[in-house]
Amino acid sequence: MQSFILHLSYLIGSVTFILGLKMLSHPETARKGNLVAAFGMTVAIFATIFLYKYQETRYAEFKHLGNLGWIFGALVLGTVVGTMAAKKVKMTAMPEMVSLFNGMGGACAMLISIVEYNHMAHEIATGVMVTPDMGMMLVIVLGMMIGTVSFAGSIIAWGKLNGSIKDKTIPGGQMINFVILGGILVLAIMVLGNMMPAMQTPMFYGIAILAAMYGVLFVMPIGGADMPVVISLLNSFTGCAAAFGGFLYSNPVMLTGGILVGSAGTILTILMCTAMNRSLKNVLIGSFGGQKAVAGEAKVGGGTYKEISLNDTAVVMAYAQNVMIIPGYGLAVAQAQHICHELEKVLEEKGVNVVYGIHPVAGRMPGHMNVLLAEADVPYEKLLEMEEANESMGSTNVVLILGANDVVNPAAKEDPASPIYGMPILEVEKAEHVIVNKRSMKPGYAGIENDLFFKPKTSMLFGDAKAVLQKLVAELKQV
Ligand code: TAP
Repeated sequence: MQSFILHLSYLIGSVTFILGLKMLSHPETARKGNLVAAFGMTVAIFATIFLYKYQETRYAEFKHLGNLGWIFGALVLGTVVGTMAAKKVKMTAMPEMVSLFNGMGGACAMLISIVEYNHMAHEIATGVMVTPDMGMMLVIVLGMMIGTVSFAGSIIAWGKLNGSIKDKTIPGGQMINFVILGGILVLAIMVLGNMMPAMQTPMFYGIAILAAMYGVLFVMPIGGADMPVVISLLNSFTGCAAAFGGFLYSNPVMLTGGILVGSAGTILTILMCTAMNRSLKNVLIGSFGGQKAVAGEAKVGGGTYKEISLNDTAVVMAYAQNVMIIPGYGLAVAQAQHICHELEKVLEEKGVNVVYGIHPVAGRMPGHMNVLLAEADVPYEKLLEMEEANESMGSTNVVLILGANDVVNPAAKEDPASPIYGMPILEVEKAEHVIVNKRSMKPGYAGIENDLFFKPKTSMLFGDAKAVLQKLVAELKQV
């Protein structure tokens, strides 16, 4: 009976992970999806703690799972720290937090491998096992290699995103990485082949040290704007490492969770690369976005630009038939999503049709704009994906760009020398009027100038997005 409940709990866990993931793919169901998967995870954790002894297992000591004080202490501590961090984190700092949490997942996989290696060594020393189980050892070594790379890489990515670690191109870095990978491979073969039994343990820990070095050196030179892609890639590594843990413990829910994280991370990495029209190789060695613009350093060489007043903006928008709002990173920084929704409602009351044009990599993480606007209760039908937005651009009277820059930069289409050349963009020039709200003429994350600001149909509306929108809404109410 207990064994049946254990397996039923694992089934519930696996099914809720799949359902939760499916629900996470839509902003309207994402919150619920998260809760569904968290429920499944809770069921699986408690089933493992209390019923694991009823499962067939290699290790006799699992029949008497002890250390309950430690287990529950860690559970409570993790829950408190996780909840506080998630409540406190700003949306713009979300990639940082994801990276740190992902690093913890990698560290867990690494520790599981170390513990299981020691279990096996103990069984050999006590004569329970004659020679190492090669299949198990392969899973242990792979889990530790991948988990350690993910842990070390994620910590570097976290440091880079919070500004405590600077982008650093190491001379001969690629060659060093190649040598380290070679070293890992040689040690792994020697450990798996049990070639020097007396040196088995030092070689095993040698793999961990080299994998940590590889994780650091692999992430160190990658440009700041490419960090979300790298984090997603590291996320998929952690998923694979967790899946190896599932093999070790014959735990189907750990296996399913690991496979889902691994595949979701891989798909997301591919989607982000496609949205930027760049290969993964280019992301990993391109150092794109590493040179962030420093205050006052931006050169304004594109010609002259014209400004528009708040009053004129209100008039142009109030008499338009179709308005498209294009949100970007600046909207998130200003936390202007609620007032943006207010602007949309005021315009609609005046008979203006308002939609939002969403670029897949606008902001700093996948789905950033969707999450932001969903938070402000913007109806989901109003969000047009890039292709759809570009199709309706011709019939749009006014495009209002709020803190977006790279994703509307025409250099992506016109300038083969530009680092963003080839990236699909929102083709705002097809609209009648373009109004750009930002605080200055400084570039966006890619650190490059935007010719759109100097085009005849573009007007600049300077100021912090939230303050500008508050005044604009007030003006519109007077029109
Ligand atoms: P950006 O190109 O970074 O431009 C944001 C603009 O917002 C800046 O030019 C800034 O200009 C303005 N801004 C900042 N604070 C503001 C405020 N308080 N009020 C008004 N404006 C403000 O953003 P984007 O167009 O959203 O492009 C995203 C970039 O990130 C792309 O380069 C993309 O490739 C990269 N990236 C994103 C992802 C994902 S998944 N989202 C992944 C990888 C890379 P001022 O300083 O003059 O105000």
